[in-house]
Amino acid sequence: MMTSLARMPVLAGLLLWFSVAGAAQTPPAPSAPSNDDCLMCHGDKDSAVRADKTSVHVDAERYGASLHGQMGLTCVACHTDLATAAEWPHAEKLARPDCSTCHPEPAAHYASSVHGQSRQAGRKVAATCASCHGSHDILPSKDPDSRTYHLNLPRTCGQCHGNDATVAAAHLPGGNVVRSFEDSIHGRALLKGGLLVAPSCSSCHGAHDVRAKSDPASQVARTNVPEVCGRCHEGVKLQFARGKHGEQLQQDNPRGPVCIDCHSAHHIQRSDMSVWQVDVVRECGTCHQESIASYRDTFHGQVTALGFARVATCASCHGAHDVRPQADPASPVNDANIVATCRKCHEGANANFAKYNPHANRHHRDPMPLLYYTGQFMDLLLLGVFSFFGIHTGLWFTKELRLRRQRRRAPPAKADKEQRDDSGAA
Ligand code: HEC
Ligand code: HEC
Ligand code: HEC
Ligand code: HEC
Ligand code: HEC
Ligand code: HEC
Ligand code: HEC
Ligand code: HEC
Ligand code: HEC
Ligand code: HEC
Ligand code: HEC
Repeated sequence: MMTSLARMPVLAGLLLWFSVAGAAQTPPAPSAPSNDDCLMCHGDKDSAVRADKTSVHVDAERYGASLHGQMGLTCVACHTDLATAAEWPHAEKLARPDCSTCHPEPAAHYASSVHGQSRQAGRKVAATCASCHGSHDILPSKDPDSRTYHLNLPRTCGQCHGNDATVAAAHLPGGNVVRSFEDSIHGRALLKGGLLVAPSCSSCHGAHDVRAKSDPASQVARTNVPEVCGRCHEGVKLQFARGKHGEQLQQDNPRGPVCIDCHSAHHIQRSDMSVWQVDVVRECGTCHQESIASYRDTFHGQVTALGFARVATCASCHGAHDVRPQADPASPVNDANIVATCRKCHEGANANFAKYNPHANRHHRDPMPLLYYTGQFMDLLLLGVFSFFGIHTGLWFTKELRLRRQRRRAPPAKADKEQRDDSGAA
């Protein structure tokens, strides 16, 4: 009945007109309009247009196939302001459907989310229920055709966070994060590999309670990051928690690193990519300035600076997640383990070889007196050479100045005199 009426909008319109005209004489029966009533006008692609020519067409078949359609939900279950409508045409502007009456829990989470709050504050871009779910074609999230299916979310969130125009116009934080994500190991595993265990946007952000990273209640607030990544990378989370960096987090020291400082949030790369490994060295150096400076002075550091991760990076000697002070017997650079650590690459390394200090700092006397004094000597030599040439140049300069002054005071040469005579004649 519904679809056949939709195919015959003219006839249906006439029928409706008669029923409405009839109702004007006898008091109207207070029955809610049926879907067919609405589809009479809205089911026809050509005539269902607004004054400004934008479409108000509703695809009856598609609605019928949606979850709500299959359940037999009427149009006015959502468009409640027409539930008792008896007059056609109805008002031009209708209220936005309120999904919260039937879905109170997602609606409550949404209301306190960054998207809900943004809408409440009157800003017009943030996601509504319909931006993520659609309106007349909603499917269960487990259905591969659903907008909220795990593999489809980057596209759904990407309507805004992956759309350069929207990102720029609404100043969306982080820029086009979807493009970064697509290029990451997670994005490729999800979108190319079709791997359901790879994370999609909602795995880290949640679906309805998405919050700004600056909000302490956000799943991606800095201090919650190891927990979020640890949902899947449980082993790494435990290693991290045991090490000195994890300890900083437990002690609320904001100067310690969390997963995203070294890996980034959306542009996570395979950990054996040498470009990334060399980048991480720089990242370690943002906090350990002295260690990176001394490291840069050594062979390992100079070669990695050229982009070769084959040579030892910080993590080759200290480990990546379970970093510890040298004094800790479990540290790979502790005296008990250092030979084994060098041996990972230097097959023949022995205790003597391991005495080579990878952080040789020639400005500190105590650990390496010979290096210190050699350094001091080189500094003195450098200073001496510069001083000698400095004084030499200074003396040369004063001598030159004196000579010029003498030349100026001496009687003018013959050529100069002739020139002055010429200009006087002209
Ligand atoms: C007699 C034809 C007709 C019938 C019947 C009809 N509509 Fe409409 N409807 C229109 C037209 C025309 C517009 C466009 C109004 C405009 O913006 O110019 C419209 C607009 C709408 C809009 C958009 C309103 C907005 O704020 O932009 C909704 C929602 C809507 N109708 C829902 C319904 C529902 C639900 C029913 C059934 C209860 C229904 N309509 C019945 C003709 C009809
Ligand atoms: C599950 C709730 C729900 C049901 C059921 C529903 N709608 Fe809607 N409808 C919406 C939402 C949500 C919007 C979009 C509002 C927005 O984006 O501002 C909408 C928008 C519309 C519009 C405006 C044009 C558009 O597509 O954006 C029309 C017309 C409309 N609905 C008609 C109908 C008709 C006819 C039916 C029954 C066949 C129906 N709706 C059933 C939720 C519903
Ligand atoms: C930013 C996108 C987004 C917005 C906005 C959004 N949802 Fe969802 N919703 C999702 C995703 C994604 C899922 C799939 C479940 C998951 O991944 O956790 C989901 C699942 C659901 C479910 C089924 C699972 C459940 O939690 O019961 C319902 C019902 C639902 N949403 C209703 C709503 C309603 C109502 C609103 C508006 C108040 C809304 N959603 C707003 C993304 C969104
Ligand atoms: C009149 C009540 C009613 C209204 C209004 C309503 N829904 Fe539903 N919706 C249901 C029922 C009932 C189900 C099926 C049971 C369930 O899964 O919660 C459902 C299911 C869903 C699901 C699928 C849940 C899943 O299993 O993945 C989503 C998503 C959803 N609704 C979103 C919306 C959105 C968005 C709106 C507003 C545009 C809306 N609903 C309005 C009653 C309603
Ligand atoms: C593996 C977990 C993870 C996944 C998957 C993920 N994010 Fe994020 N996202 C984060 C973390 C962690 C932050 C906080 C970054 C920070 O503190 O610098 C963040 C930040 C953001 C921000 C704010 C950016 C900023 O710099 O202020 C947006 C917007 C965002 N994510 C959207 C998305 C979208 C859209 C997707 C899906 C394509 C997605 N995220 C997938 C973990 C994730
Ligand atoms: C219809 C557009 C739209 C869609 C779809 C959308 N967002 Fe947003 N999102 C926004 C806007 C706009 C803001 C900024 C709100 C504000 O601050 O006023 C925002 C803010 C955010 C933030 C907060 C960033 C920060 O740290 O300040 C995160 C995280 C985020 N969105 C993630 C998501 C995820 C995940 C999805 C999909 C599940 C999604 N968004 C879908 C428009 C959208
Ligand atoms: C929903 C589960 C899930 C979450 C949450 C998650 N990951 Fe992953 N991650 C994976 C899977 C699955 C792979 C393997 C993908 C592949 O190999 O194709 C992976 C791969 C990685 C890799 C590359 C590993 C390698 O072998 O080189 C790194 C690094 C990584 N994730 C870091 C993170 C960080 C940091 C976070 C938190 C911001 C995070 N992951 C959150 C599932 C997850
Ligand atoms: C201080 C920097 C740093 C922090 C913090 C960090 N990682 Fe790593 N991560 C690395 C480095 C470096 C590697 C490469 C290790 C290697 O090649 O031996 C790595 C490797 C990985 C791998 C690949 C498996 C492996 O061990 O080689 C995963 C997965 C991973 N990290 C996830 C995480 C998660 C989850 C967190 C937060 C709990 C985290 N990382 C925190 C630097 C870090
Ligand atoms: C965001 C800043 C930050 C980053 C990035 C960072 N660290 Fe640390 N690291 C710390 C802090 C803070 C401590 C604790 C220092 C303390 O207790 O004196 C620490 C402790 C250590 C220790 C133990 C030394 C000690 O004195 O306890 C080692 C080794 C270490 N980090 C190595 C690394 C390596 C290797 C990387 C890169 C893969 C790295 N760190 C990246 C902040 C950082
Ligand atoms: C070839 C191996 C090697 C490499 C590469 C290396 N280190 Fe070290 N690191 C050591 C050894 C051995 C020690 C202990 C000797 C010392 O303190 O000078 C040490 C000490 C440290 C300490 C002090 C630990 C403590 O307990 O006081 C920090 C912090 C540190 N390294 C950070 C880094 C950072 C950051 C990088 C990369 C820029 C790096 N290391 C590269 C071997 C290495
Ligand atoms: C990740 C691998 C790796 C680790 C671990 C490593 N190195 Fe190296 N190191 C190299 C490579 C590669 C070279 C380049 C030398 C070459 O081409 O033979 C090098 C060069 C050197 C050199 C200068 C060149 C030479 O052979 O005379 C010294 C000294 C050195 N390493 C000491 C150490 C010490 C001490 C340790 C342990 C604390 C260590 N390395 C750990 C990879 C490593």
